[in-house]
Amino acid sequence: MSRLVVVSNRVTKVQQGGAQAGGLAVGLLGALEEMGGVWFGWSGNVTEDPSDEPRMSTSGGIAYATLDLSPEDYDEYYNGFSNSMLWPLFHYRQDLMEFHLSSYQGYRRANARFAKALKGLLEPDDLVWVHDYHMIPLAEELRRLGVRNKMGFFLHTPFPSHQVLVVLPQHREIVSALSAYDVVGFQSSTDLRTFSHYIRFETSGVFLDERHLIRAFRRTFHANKFPIGIDTENIEAMAQSPDNAVRVERLVRSLRGRKLIIGVDRLDYSKGIVQRLHAFELLLARNPDWHNKVVFLQIAPPTREDVAHYGEIRHLLETEAGRINGEYAEFDWVPIRYLNRGFTRQTLSGFFRQACIGLVTPLRDGMNLVAKEYVAAQNSADPGVLVLSRFAGAAEQLTNALIVNPYDEERVAATLGRALEMTLKERQGRWRATMDVIRRHDIVAWRKNFLRVLNRAPFTA
Ligand code: G6P
Repeated sequence: MSRLVVVSNRVTKVQQGGAQAGGLAVGLLGALEEMGGVWFGWSGNVTEDPSDEPRMSTSGGIAYATLDLSPEDYDEYYNGFSNSMLWPLFHYRQDLMEFHLSSYQGYRRANARFAKALKGLLEPDDLVWVHDYHMIPLAEELRRLGVRNKMGFFLHTPFPSHQVLVVLPQHREIVSALSAYDVVGFQSSTDLRTFSHYIRFETSGVFLDERHLIRAFRRTFHANKFPIGIDTENIEAMAQSPDNAVRVERLVRSLRGRKLIIGVDRLDYSKGIVQRLHAFELLLARNPDWHNKVVFLQIAPPTREDVAHYGEIRHLLETEAGRINGEYAEFDWVPIRYLNRGFTRQTLSGFFRQACIGLVTPLRDGMNLVAKEYVAAQNSADPGVLVLSRFAGAAEQLTNALIVNPYDEERVAATLGRALEMTLKERQGRWRATMDVIRRHDIVAWRKNFLRVLNRAPFTA
């Protein structure tokens, strides 16, 4: 049987028991356990003159191979091209994009270095599965080195529309690099459609079977949607775990019978947290009856702090949360609890279970797994309501959530009011339908589906 080689910029090493791992990590680690293989990527360290030999280690029976980044690669490849160019552009924020040719060159240089190091680890039958926008050129670099393995790529972010993508001076190089994979996977039909538009209008590529088999840039590859799922049963169990008891009890006690709305996001401008605070403010402004009866808990651990726009959004959120609390708080009630720190998934799932609304309103998101985890953590006898942005990939699947446009703050506020007053019967009906989708399309189904298609490669015209 083929081994699996997982490649991603961030490598998640899992502590025993997997309690700290995200859903993606849990899914991929399961595959690595079954098939054997290695997880390859950045160590998370930045060092002067890093070695080009990957550092090998094992943890929980899984093999890892990691490289450090040099300060230049950290600046140009990670903070630069990946997170100041591709990330904003793929999230439709061309206004936040910072283009420097040196960053693109650093991105290519880092990918060539990753490819060289990875080549030495590959066996002929290995399936190589590359994740996310940091490593788009990896297959092209590997093929240049003579590697003929089956290689798949999965994009965790949205794929932007054609006219947005062409803002990137190297849009052609990036899409042509994707064609070096045998399978290119997206989160949603929207992403697959925008990719297909690009191929149709910007290249001489042709679709060999209507939708999925593409001949472009002198390669034949399969492009499809593979909506990512969560480790549903694990979340259900964690949400009820006695290990959460102390913290959950503290939370419940602090609420004093008030209703809880929860938001959990990396502190990122794509998550729509500012608009979300405004929507909550409008709920309070329009409904004095809810004063002192509802609390909004927003958990937002900071990330990518060396990129200037992340500092700006952090500052803005602090200002807005402070301003709204200043306006509405009572001596015995603070409406917004805004936290810049992370919690384990176990604790979060315990918190989700206490919240009568999961407020997930990104301005753009590939999938958004918090939406799915919130639902999976609910108590079936008294479930909460998911309020979900139409711009999250999850909205394509979770059609029984209350779907909102996060820019329309008045409507989001009205939807929050509706969710707070929803009858048990309606909540249960929506929850059951949503949970059914989440159960059927879990993380294991996702990776099996992707690997089944990758196994069928190479595709011929
Ligand atoms: C998103 C990306 C991932 C990335 C994660 C955390 O989910 O799709 O590829 O690893 O954010 O961001 P960071 O820059 O800290 O790795």
